[in-house]
Amino acid sequence: MGEMERLDVTECTRCPDLADCRSRIVNGVGPADADLLFVGEGPGKNEDERGEPFVGRSGTVLDDALQAAGLARADVRITNCVRCRPPENRDPRTGELDNCREYLEREIDAVEPTVIVTLGKVPSEHLLGRDVGVTGEAGDTFDCDIAGETRPVMVSVHPAATLYDRSQKETFESTIQRAADLMGSGGQSTLGSF
Ligand code: URA
Repeated sequence: MGEMERLDVTECTRCPDLADCRSRIVNGVGPADADLLFVGEGPGKNEDERGEPFVGRSGTVLDDALQAAGLARADVRITNCVRCRPPENRDPRTGELDNCREYLEREIDAVEPTVIVTLGKVPSEHLLGRDVGVTGEAGDTFDCDIAGETRPVMVSVHPAATLYDRSQKETFESTIQRAADLMGSGGQSTLGSF
């Protein structure tokens, strides 16, 4: 079994409400040794149907910003805090985030990304463990203790926010550009020893 398949959750009923409603579990995609790991909130309708994170309108926004920054979706890893679609697209509950945390930590440990970019308030607060004002803190990177390791986490607004607010589009694109710049042109990090 390859590294990527090993990271896949194939069966889980820890959150009965989510397990009842989902079409499928949506695992992370992208190289298991990616330098950049994007973490979203949880699957929406499109993701639940297709079994891949960020494949709806938010995914198009992310893909476009990656492309503008000289990256392709295939270069990065993309995952979510919870792997099952919350009904009516509500925010995942604290207990659901907690139940899925082990899978996310396992993925982060295996991928060992140079930078984790949190897409929106829910993943930012989940990984930073505090209240986050995503617009004000977008593009800032914080050292974060995740499962006993210090990991750099860059806050971003959620790509969906750009669909309603033009200024969020600029914020989002410059955050993605900043994350790409940290990788350097050859995919090498400029973050020092991380
Ligand atoms: N929004 C998210 O946070 N994650 C997805 O996978 C899609 C939309």
